[in-house]
Amino acid sequence: MPFAHITGWGMSVPETILTNDDLSKMVDTNDEWIRDRTGIRERHIVHDEDQTTASLAVEASLKALQVANLRPTDIDLIICSTSTPEHIFPATACLVQDRIGATKAGAFDLLAACSGFIYAINMAAQSIRSRSIQNALVIGSETLSRFVNWQDRNTCILFGDGAGAFVLQASEMPGGVLSAVMHSDGSGGDLLILQGGGSKYPATEATLQAGKHFIEMDGKEVFRFATRVMAQATREVLDDSGIGLDELNWIIPHQANIRIIEAAARGLKLPLERFIVNLERYGNTSTASIPIATVEALEDGRLQPGHKIVFVGFGAGLTWGALAAEWTGPLPSERKVYPRRYRLWARIRSFLRRVVRFVEGVIWGRGS
Ligand code: ACO
Repeated sequence: MPFAHITGWGMSVPETILTNDDLSKMVDTNDEWIRDRTGIRERHIVHDEDQTTASLAVEASLKALQVANLRPTDIDLIICSTSTPEHIFPATACLVQDRIGATKAGAFDLLAACSGFIYAINMAAQSIRSRSIQNALVIGSETLSRFVNWQDRNTCILFGDGAGAFVLQASEMPGGVLSAVMHSDGSGGDLLILQGGGSKYPATEATLQAGKHFIEMDGKEVFRFATRVMAQATREVLDDSGIGLDELNWIIPHQANIRIIEAAARGLKLPLERFIVNLERYGNTSTASIPIATVEALEDGRLQPGHKIVFVGFGAGLTWGALAAEWTGPLPSERKVYPRRYRLWARIRSFLRRVVRFVEGVIWGRGS
């Protein structure tokens, strides 16, 4: 059975930064309160219509392919984990597939909120382990700022935008993704919810007036749930993978609130230094938070090949999960590829396919 290795990584965040002081001009809050209760100082926010969940995902993906030294055409499967997709359909993963020119890839979106990236890596890894695919691109991308009520101080202080992507590849060399646990409890679905725009509450003037198109959250209950499951899921995945807590180099948790991460550290009797934390600069970017934290840890040299790590997260659903891996890095390869160069061809290809579709429609008669 092949092993599923994480061989490429990339992240992308919008340039615009929204600080706690900026927020204090919009709602009744202040920097001290936000830092004390959450640990967040600032977050990145999309600022124009061209910056979307798909555009951030494309940037992160191209970087991940570059690190893995893989062409977009080598990818067999794209999973985009997101709670803020570009549209209800088509899947954001399909938009990414078209824009990067991943001509051979199947593509779908996965919605498990902030736990989504863990679920998605596990799905991709299982597809590799079963020999169904060789190479996968797993993306976590969010533009939560488009769904936040900027007058609700309970939620608007928490979230940020961004994307992270990993490339997973099959190899007979042992290592990579070792085990994963995934959990859910839909009885807590109403604790963190975006009600409008789905089939229950399609957009109407009434749903707009009632604020149903904004994120609603019972912060205290989500907090209680999160502090309970983080340590529990970490222990569970370590038991499954046979890694001892003392062998673990890093825990890379979902970046929601420093107090939640501190509670997990206490629960596991580990110092906070063993956790990768960067939420002070990004806020909660939901499913993108784990890959963004991972990329930063790789870039500053904390995370190294051979390290044993656990990703652990929780989110709306309710969902939670953890994944244990031995870090690999790029697989050896003689060739050098430039994934960005495929972008132009991807655009031309996409344009030509549209033209062909149009011409066929004219010849054969539209709608017949
Ligand atoms: N600024 C100033 N005061 C505030 C703010 C604010 N932004 N928000 C709330 N307050 C006030 C409240 O009104 C309350 O005042 P009161 O005592 O007079 O009633 C007081 O501060 C305390 O409010 P609490 O809600 O008790 O604050 P708490 O310490 O619980 O922190 C928070 C709130 C930060 C939201 C916390 O509950 C939390 O982090 N929960 C988890 C949220 C989370 O992680 N969500 C994402 C899940 S992942 C996903 O799927 C996207």
